[in-house]
Amino acid sequence: ARLDVTETFHHISFPGHIHTQDSLNYALHFQFQDRDTVIATYPKSGTTWMQEIVTLVKNRGDPQLSKTVPNWARAPWLEQHYSAKVLEATQGHRILTTHLPYNLLASVIYVARNPKDVAVSYYHFHKMAKLVDTNDLYLEHFWDLILLYGSWFDHVKGWTSQAGVLANVLYISYEEMWLDLQGSMERISSFLQCPLVGEELTNSLRHCSFSSMSDNAMVNYTQIPKEIMDHSKGKFMRKGIIGDWRNTFTEKQIGIFDTVYSYQMKDCPLTFMWE
Ligand code: PPS
Repeated sequence: ARLDVTETFHHISFPGHIHTQDSLNYALHFQFQDRDTVIATYPKSGTTWMQEIVTLVKNRGDPQLSKTVPNWARAPWLEQHYSAKVLEATQGHRILTTHLPYNLLASVIYVARNPKDVAVSYYHFHKMAKLVDTNDLYLEHFWDLILLYGSWFDHVKGWTSQAGVLANVLYISYEEMWLDLQGSMERISSFLQCPLVGEELTNSLRHCSFSSMSDNAMVNYTQIPKEIMDHSKGKFMRKGIIGDWRNTFTEKQIGIFDTVYSYQMKDCPLTFMWE
């Protein structure tokens, strides 16, 4: 059976089996603490990757936690129904994740990815994750702005409009991490005031590589029940590359996408290097 129930909150649809009105309200009124780190992303933009990097940085390259505790239990999504319980049991510095639009105040790491690759990744993800009817989701919906978690454009424009307003936000792209993981890791660890040295850095780099994370049951989602994610239909850690849209889109689709993109993003205060 498909779990195609959605929960609508502030005009945005969320997958119903992990979100409730109560859990979304909890996120909206969440009391941050000074040392909280928030990872904010639109889905399919590098969330899981950044959760792994931040876990490794905070543990100085020691993979113990990342190999024994599922990512959602060590970096819970604020808006999902289990987060209050997980956070009650958490001591010390917290790592929080959110797909919500901006309205939060804390140390935030905002991860963005080339929207064409987000569309491809989202498409494949919906084949294995029973969130909505697969036929209901493909490129056209990207510019119709009716995706789960709302419009990609609004998400990126909303969060980037806070550059220079919120004091403590690091903006980084999936592409930057992919092209220079070490440089990105150094930037992230200094931002977190936890600069890594020597083996701390090499261990962290090793454990958040695509191949390591694909084999790590704590982040590859293979332990999620088949009714929610069916691994016979594809992998969560699918390809982990940049520019897969070139293998997927037709010339016509690229043309339309580029037109919508330049119109939607004309006033965007930050530009990312996608390619
Ligand atoms: S979700 O559902 O929002 O939490 O998804 P998210 O984690 O944001 O995005 C999943 C995509 O990120 C890729 N990924 C990685 N790429 C490179 N290196 C590493 N270490 C890595 N970890 C996750 C994952 O493969 C998904 O992208 P696609 O293009 O589908 O492969």
